[in-house]
Amino acid sequence: MVKHLEANLPEGISEAAAATRGRTLAQLFDLDPRRTERLSLAWEGWLVDFSKERITGLGLDALLDHAASVSVASWIAALFAGEKVNLSEARPALHTALRQTDDTPVIVAGDDVIPMIRAVQARMRTLALSLRNGERKGAAGAPIRHVINIGIGGSDLGPRVVCDALASASSRFDVAFVSNVDPAHLARTLRSRVPAETLFIVTSKTFTTQETIANARAARGWLIAALGGDCNVGSHFIGVTANVEEASAFGIAIDDILPLWDWVGGRFSLWSAVGLPIAVAHGFDRFEQLLAGGARMDAHFRSTPFSQNLPVLLALITFWNTRVLGHDQRVVVPYAQALSGLPAYLQQLSLESNGKRVTRDGSGVAGPTAPAVWGTTGTDGQHAFFQWLHQGTPTVPVEFIVPVRGTDAPCEQQVLLVANALAQAQALLQGVSERALTLRLGELGGAALQAAVAARTCPGDRASTTLLLPTLNAFELGSLLALYEHRTFVEGILFGINSFDQWGVELGKTLTPPLIAALGSSSAPFPLEVDPSTRALATHARSLLAS
Ligand code: F6P
Repeated sequence: MVKHLEANLPEGISEAAAATRGRTLAQLFDLDPRRTERLSLAWEGWLVDFSKERITGLGLDALLDHAASVSVASWIAALFAGEKVNLSEARPALHTALRQTDDTPVIVAGDDVIPMIRAVQARMRTLALSLRNGERKGAAGAPIRHVINIGIGGSDLGPRVVCDALASASSRFDVAFVSNVDPAHLARTLRSRVPAETLFIVTSKTFTTQETIANARAARGWLIAALGGDCNVGSHFIGVTANVEEASAFGIAIDDILPLWDWVGGRFSLWSAVGLPIAVAHGFDRFEQLLAGGARMDAHFRSTPFSQNLPVLLALITFWNTRVLGHDQRVVVPYAQALSGLPAYLQQLSLESNGKRVTRDGSGVAGPTAPAVWGTTGTDGQHAFFQWLHQGTPTVPVEFIVPVRGTDAPCEQQVLLVANALAQAQALLQGVSERALTLRLGELGGAALQAAVAARTCPGDRASTTLLLPTLNAFELGSLLALYEHRTFVEGILFGINSFDQWGVELGKTLTPPLIAALGSSSAPFPLEVDPSTRALATHARSLLAS
């Protein structure tokens, strides 16, 4: 039975929690014949069913009251209006402006940002076209045939998930992604590329991220080694950054640097020039369809009452699962190979945004915040960790994301795929009882029967949410990604935290440079503040690196 956390919960939520305590999901279904209707939402051909979550209509009402009491509506209005919702950095978070379809002004520091966005979009369109039609040439006069994005975190995961997702629909151009500073990542990617025909997009909001700059330098070295130092190697690079100065110092021509703005957070940036690889791989028109899908979700989020508002409802479920039921994990399983990058993307979106321990005013949070997010595609996950989901000791809510019509022609496998998603959610809920197994295996008798029944019993009563999407094109994908962005934002409001900063990531970054120096030379001293364990590991690593 799932434990309930009672401390620090608003009264209405505590009462609703008490009403579910001791009841199984099956009992909750029996008690309310309208449960699925009440705890699901149909929207634009989607069906989002959270009736398999351990919540009741009463609980949802209490959560909706809570959303009102923590001013979710004002926060949503502030987000869209360009107010400084990122309090610790005193910045707006205007990813919604990037996908706005009309030209209604959005003012930041006295300036309308929409014309700036349109100007960059026009440059993206031109650039993408010139690459796709072969007009853009390399230093040796060969048309560019390979594009490699070098970036990490938000400068990688967003464009990567979209490029992968749309790949089967239209992959006219070879676009690859290099993020890891492990030299093997770049080396393996370059293995099948021709230097004279390769262009690198260096994507970094700050243009100071160690991994990205090291990989960009290595890429430049690879080009110089192949094309010669006197060729215009800079013409093989495009920069996407808010730090034009650094990109230009790296050797990228000003005309080849697309700007970002400090009001776009890294993990929310795929809708900006960071999306250039999408426009190159799939065409700018498809990138616009992605933006339009995001804008459709924005309109829904901005103006729909909370009881029918998808991002708000899903955020409320997270709040309930985390704060009331004490779940510290959420498993996401996209039933689409095209969405194989989605779990990693959601990990950064959710955990970098809401993996926080203090509220906006610096006091400690009232309870747990973001649950760990992880997962993989169905059906692969079924043959890996689903055993643990069905019979393991922790119980973890699962999210099934199912684009029902595949990107290819209807076929037997697609039906199999969708059936598997539905069957897994059903199995988590229903399980298989000792009684049913005893009847089925009765002829074994005695201790053998007992052991077989014990091993095969699946307790069921395990929660899940299922999102059915009509299909997975650029438009639907835009809505899906925007849904998760807004859900993350609302979760942050419910937890009382700022979802738009990431100070925790900075510490590791500052500790790396002294260790780089110490690893590089046997005579370099270790920094004084290094603890004994790190010192021993670094000493061993230094001798291995030198051998
Ligand atoms: O991982 C920390 C982080 O700051 C992310 O927020 C960001 O997406 C990523 O690093 C890359 O940063 P940049 O785009 O500045 O290279």
